[in-house]
Amino acid sequence: MSKLLEDETAVVTGAASGNGRGIARRFAEEGADVVIADLQAEPRKAGEPTHELIEDRTGSAARYVECDVTDRSDLRTAVAAAEDLGGLDIMVNNAGIAFEGKPVVDITRQEYDEQMEVNLTGVFYGCQESARTMQERGGGNIINVSSVAGFKGAANNSVYSMSKAGVRILTQSLAAELGAQGIRVNAIHPGVIETAFTTRDQDIVGGEQGEAFMEGMALDRFGTPEDVGDSAVYLASDLSSFVTGHSLTVDGGFSATF
Ligand code: NAI
Repeated sequence: MSKLLEDETAVVTGAASGNGRGIARRFAEEGADVVIADLQAEPRKAGEPTHELIEDRTGSAARYVECDVTDRSDLRTAVAAAEDLGGLDIMVNNAGIAFEGKPVVDITRQEYDEQMEVNLTGVFYGCQESARTMQERGGGNIINVSSVAGFKGAANNSVYSMSKAGVRILTQSLAAELGAQGIRVNAIHPGVIETAFTTRDQDIVGGEQGEAFMEGMALDRFGTPEDVGDSAVYLASDLSSFVTGHSLTVDGGFSATF
């Protein structure tokens, strides 16, 4: 059977760990070469670096590029690395951060700035730099990672939700703007996925919050980075060739049923 992303090249930000790692790995299994653009090569959870894993276990090429998505020149370096692998076809703006939930009155300016910079400005820069290259190449595919928090507000989660709602509207705006140039732009909205983000940064999986989330989980389990990776393969491939501006929820039924 032919692979879904044969001869494609992708950049995935935040792909050393978690969802980005799942996306990069699934892309490589489907035949894409992948640039891992992250602050660090080592995964936040155990395991070998994503680029090594891909080269060891799939027939695809992978490169690690040190990249802070808040620095536009780092994103240019990541896009240039994709050029060396054949040219940028797919850009996944996945890198994101969260802090333990906090009442709005306690959020510091530094926390606000840091979260908005990585989660929203970083995605904006990633869209800009990839769109520029894709326009020159005559088309491409941009996928932004938002969250179920980008649809609905939640107590003690104001800045994260704001940043993720911004990603949703940015996605829709760019779908309208870039569609005629052959560039599709879609968003993935994960629910609770088991990564360092939900086990370490926030006390969700394994904690009381996680139990509350599980009550609303129609599929009765937390998600995995592979679940997010599979949804990204759909959006990156021709299976979704008439889909743009879409928000794809990957949350085990949580937001539809709870
Ligand atoms: P994670 O913490 O496991 O992995 C995030 C990766 O991004 C890490 O490798 C980290 O080094 C990298 N990173 C952080 N700041 C960066 C920066 N400035 N520049 C480049 N790379 C940077 O987190 P996870 O869970 O994989 O999250 C990935 C995305 O999925 C985020 O945008 C997050 O908001 C979103 N998401 C995650 C959910 C979950 O339950 N895990 C739920 C909904 C959305």
